Amino acid sequence: MMNSPFLFDTKTVNYIIGDGALEQAAKLFTQYQSVFILMDKNVEKFCLDVLMSKLPDIKVRGYIKIPAGESSKSIEHATHIWESLTNMGASRDSLLINLGGGVVSDIGGFCASTFKRGLPFINIPTTLLAQVDASIGGKTGIDFLSFKNQVGLFVDPKAVVIDPVFLKTLEFKYWQSGFAEVTKHALIMDKELWKLLGDRKFTEIEEWNKIIMRSAKDKIDIVRYDKTEHGIRKILNFGHTIGHAIETFYLKSDQPITHGQAIAAGIICETWISSKMVKLECDNVEEVIHRIDINFNRLPITEKDIPKMMLLMRQDKKIIDGDIKFSLLRKLGKAVHDIGGISAELIRDSFLFYINNKKCN
Ligand code: GLY
Repeated sequence: MMNSPFLFDTKTVNYIIGDGALEQAAKLFTQYQSVFILMDKNVEKFCLDVLMSKLPDIKVRGYIKIPAGESSKSIEHATHIWESLTNMGASRDSLLINLGGGVVSDIGGFCASTFKRGLPFINIPTTLLAQVDASIGGKTGIDFLSFKNQVGLFVDPKAVVIDPVFLKTLEFKYWQSGFAEVTKHALIMDKELWKLLGDRKFTEIEEWNKIIMRSAKDKIDIVRYDKTEHGIRKILNFGHTIGHAIETFYLKSDQPITHGQAIAAGIICETWISSKMVKLECDNVEEVIHRIDINFNRLPITEKDIPKMMLLMRQDKKIIDGDIKFSLLRKLGKAVHDIGGISAELIRDSFLFYINNKKCN
């Protein structure tokens, strides 16, 4: 029997999550005079028909398309979106639907909220990563002058409609990528989710509806309390301080990896740092590493890559001489943020721990 979608109206955002969410959300779309859909070309191919079959009454005035991938989060594509909205006669009574992954909700939310001082928008995420993470929390923006998310703002969508139906369209590597964020949510705040995921490969999981509901709700709970990332929201950065450096390193090479592959590696390094800095027990470290290793291959990082990654980490955090603050695991299901005093040597050792597949001691 199908579970009902989970409805959660925080007063600023209406969340509808789970099997049947699209049908449940149908009435949200009828109050707007005109609806525009932003998507990339893969989403048009694989997801648009799914959306239209679930929402046959939606009156779409126009489609705006951008190429797939992070390179679309540019000022040129923002201009294209603003031009399209203008040419198709969008007004503040219109609605923009961001149908797609994190790139679409980032640039779409940014363009909508700056167009005519604010066009309402609704996120309909189609990837696992966007469903449990990127579509929730109001981060919008574009990359600028080779800095990620350099221009943007925190602005809430009117609603986020998360329907697992889209996951059937997802390639293995993107499913795996989202699984890194699901794992992170379990580790930082949700011991029950950690139990639910179990000691198995993500490809063996059948309870996706339950897992997505739970993981998305974890993120909602965090951003409700700290939308602008001055406090508790920082725990979402667990695995990302080192993970982002790894991701950038590989993006600059000719062998790009997914966000999730980088974060999985970052989780291993930062879990080990947690054992040194905040007394995470070695048994827990080994448990985390085992679960990551059954789902992600180790990246071929070498010792000579470490200084480059450490430099990227400092550039990413815009800190050259001072202290990089980490979010770390105190125990499974409990993270702490703003942990400073982590030496360059300890960070380097965490890479060595990863590269040499060492045991925690
Ligand atoms: N992806 C982390 C955050 O939204 O804060």
